[in-house]
Amino acid sequence: MTSVPVPEELGQPFAFGREADVYSLGDGTVLRRYREGGDTEPEALIMRHVGSHGFPVPRVFAAGGADLVLERLDGPTMAALLLSGAMAMEDGAAILADLLRRLHALPPLGGNTQPMGAAASDSAQPTSTAADDSAQPTSTAADDCARPVGPVAGGSAQPVSPTAGDSARPVGGDVPSAGDGMWSLGEGGPSVLHLDLHPENVVITADGPVVIDWRNARNGEPDLDTAFTALILAQVATGAIQHPTHEQVGAMLDVFLRLAPGDPVRLLDQVVEMRSRQVTMSVGEVNMLPLAAARVRQGVGK
Ligand SMILES: Nc1ncnc2c1ncn2[C@@H]1O[C@H](COP(=O)(O)OP(=O)(O)O)[C@@H](O)[C@H]1O
Ligand SMILES: [Mg+2]
Repeated sequence: MTSVPVPEELGQPFAFGREADVYSLGDGTVLRRYREGGDTEPEALIMRHVGSHGFPVPRVFAAGGADLVLERLDGPTMAALLLSGAMAMEDGAAILADLLRRLHALPPLGGNTQPMGAAASDSAQPTSTAADDSAQPTSTAADDCARPVGPVAGGSAQPVSPTAGDSARPVGGDVPSAGDGMWSLGEGGPSVLHLDLHPENVVITADGPVVIDWRNARNGEPDLDTAFTALILAQVATGAIQHPTHEQVGAMLDVFLRLAPGDPVRLLDQVVEMRSRQVTMSVGEVNMLPLAAARVRQGVGK
């Protein structure tokens, strides 16, 4: 296994999600490390791909084993802004829909280099180019994946602790990874999909929204991605996933369904099936997936 060059003393993470801890490395970079291990190289590949086409994504400096070294983003998550009321639910929905539309217009990984639709190169977010990427370190020969000691004490940028059990899960965030053999990264569809786009995975920077957490990304049918986001929002709206935005997310979902690209219900059954196979979903959450799917269908055409 390769690993990335990181200091031995990392200190405490300043933020975390359900799967990863995030440490400041200084010099405008962060270390994002999966707690349960993993292979970040496919994720880095797809982040570099979409970044090279102008999609707003943190620049990748290195990837290996469970570690990614990323450009440090400055700003709250969309979820934090929605929670505080600083962002309207309708505006959040519009941003998610726009991000999906731009992402799905990019060429697929390993495919032809012409975008399918409108170019998504109008991002204000500085992103890497293919030339930049080739000059970046991707891994070292050192095999040092030492884990930080001590409890996770960060989370200031994450409104819900991912370690608090099923009753306090962040929104979504736990579909099978692209690298786990379940999904194939570079095959099977005309577009790049994120497959976990929700308010916890969008950082609102001064340059605009930037999408993080690309573990599930792969090529595929764009309607899958739209259905994924809709289903995740519906899981929160129906209480199938506990989240502090529960009361307001129904309104967000309805706006998202109006604005989102493609057809949010065409592949919804497939998305329900994919989500039901996620190892980190509780039995209760899986059992409530049909309710969430029904909420998506009910919201279409409202
Ligand atoms: N490049 C980054 N710069 C700054 N903060 C980040 C960056 N990437 C992630 N974070 C912070 O870490 C949190 C968890 O990251 P995320 O990639 O979503 O992990 P998980 O897979 O565990 O959900 C985010 O909500 C955000 O606050
Ligand atoms: Mg996340």
